[in-house]
Amino acid sequence: MRLADLMWALKAGWKIKRDPMPLFRELASRRSGQRKIFIFSRRTHIITSVGDVKRILHDNEDNYYRDYVSFEQVMGQSLLMSEGKRWHTLRKGHEPAFRGDRLSGYIAPMEDAVARVGEQWAEAAASGHPLNLSRSMSGLMLDVTARALFRCPPPCPTGEFHQRMMEMSAALNQRALRLSPLIRKLAVAGSHRYRDALARWHGLEAKVRGTARHDAAQPSLLSLIEQAARQVATAPADIERQVHDDILGYLVAGTHTTATTLGWAFHLIAAHPDAADRLRREAADVLSEPPRTTRDLSGLHYARMVLQETMRLYPPAWCFILTARGDDTLEHCSVGAGEQVALCMPGIYRDARHWDEPDRFHPERFSPRAARTRAPYSYLPFGAGRRSCIGGRFAMMEMSLALSRLVSRFHLTTVTDRPIRLEAGIVLKPAHDLYLRISPLH
Ligand code: HEM
Repeated sequence: MRLADLMWALKAGWKIKRDPMPLFRELASRRSGQRKIFIFSRRTHIITSVGDVKRILHDNEDNYYRDYVSFEQVMGQSLLMSEGKRWHTLRKGHEPAFRGDRLSGYIAPMEDAVARVGEQWAEAAASGHPLNLSRSMSGLMLDVTARALFRCPPPCPTGEFHQRMMEMSAALNQRALRLSPLIRKLAVAGSHRYRDALARWHGLEAKVRGTARHDAAQPSLLSLIEQAARQVATAPADIERQVHDDILGYLVAGTHTTATTLGWAFHLIAAHPDAADRLRREAADVLSEPPRTTRDLSGLHYARMVLQETMRLYPPAWCFILTARGDDTLEHCSVGAGEQVALCMPGIYRDARHWDEPDRFHPERFSPRAARTRAPYSYLPFGAGRRSCIGGRFAMMEMSLALSRLVSRFHLTTVTDRPIRLEAGIVLKPAHDLYLRISPLH
């Protein structure tokens, strides 16, 4: 590695930890592949061009595999972490839970969970204290996942969930995400805090699973997870481990992502009253009757635009790190076998060549007409190719419903005008919990 690259990599590591946004802006103005760093001792090319993203996730998809080694302690061998035949079997096994014909069945539990949070917001408004928005959204999204996908009757441990998720993600950021494999192993082994956080995190799985119900007529995601586990493992302990890992995988991939996005969305809406009013008008029109099918929710166009814009400004899946099986040639660099590519999405989403005034919150850029002029592969919140998000439609449904319902009941005001410090870890989230002042609208 050249000295200049080394110096840049050290600075980048420091910036990522302190405040990653200036780094993202810098990457947006550089050539894709121009910067290289070492991640887990592997040479890693930082990718910020849509052409390279298309090549890696689509044209030459088979040349790259995921090796999310540092997340293993959190999600084990779950679907997200698997490769090859095992991944294929798990993916096929879980997919029926996310098919179009299933999604309408999730609306009622989603509505119940949102109504419950509405009551909590009413209590917070009456108390006059600011609402811990991050905690509230974690609780809501866990509640939706537990009720809709795992068929757990309420209450589920929603308050505890936020705590566990935050301590797990803080421990992961401090320990597992930063160091070389050997130092990481030693550091992790030596850290009581990390081990304790992980143990409490793993304990959450039993609490969620303990209340889940089975229905032979229409298997829940949990039943499908159990069936798929029996296809990839034979020993009872291995089957049990697979189920355990997949439940935790869904809690991270399917709950942490949506909770973070909704938190950012409410935060942005509180600072943009026009957008809040437009959401209210749309909700009054579309949700005047209780929705029963996905078609009834299809009119929430503006809510989806707000969420898409939120995920452009703050993409939860902000970086995809993939390893090359063989050599590959990208626009401005050559990737050797065994080297890594880090697809840094904020480097594309904050690039003025793709987005006018990229730092501005402007949901209209996701109107159907504007979307037609967008460069392919310039916006991929749910990934692309065969490894794209299994729960993307489910996520958009639950988030647009929650956003529309809650903004229709409450007036929102930000607690601070200061820029929010970011934490670029397992997802791109605020470094500290977000707070809002809320008051009832009617
Ligand atoms: C804002 C919400 C969400 C975002 C931004 C998001 C983003 C993504 C992305 C980018 C990937 C691909 C990762 C890769 O290529 O390595 C992915 C995969 C995945 N997501 Fe999501 N996701 C969200 C919500 C959900 C939900 C609601 C679920 C399920 C309930 C879910 C479950 C998964 C799983 C299991 C995978 C792994 C799929 C596979 O490897 O086959 N996600 N997600």
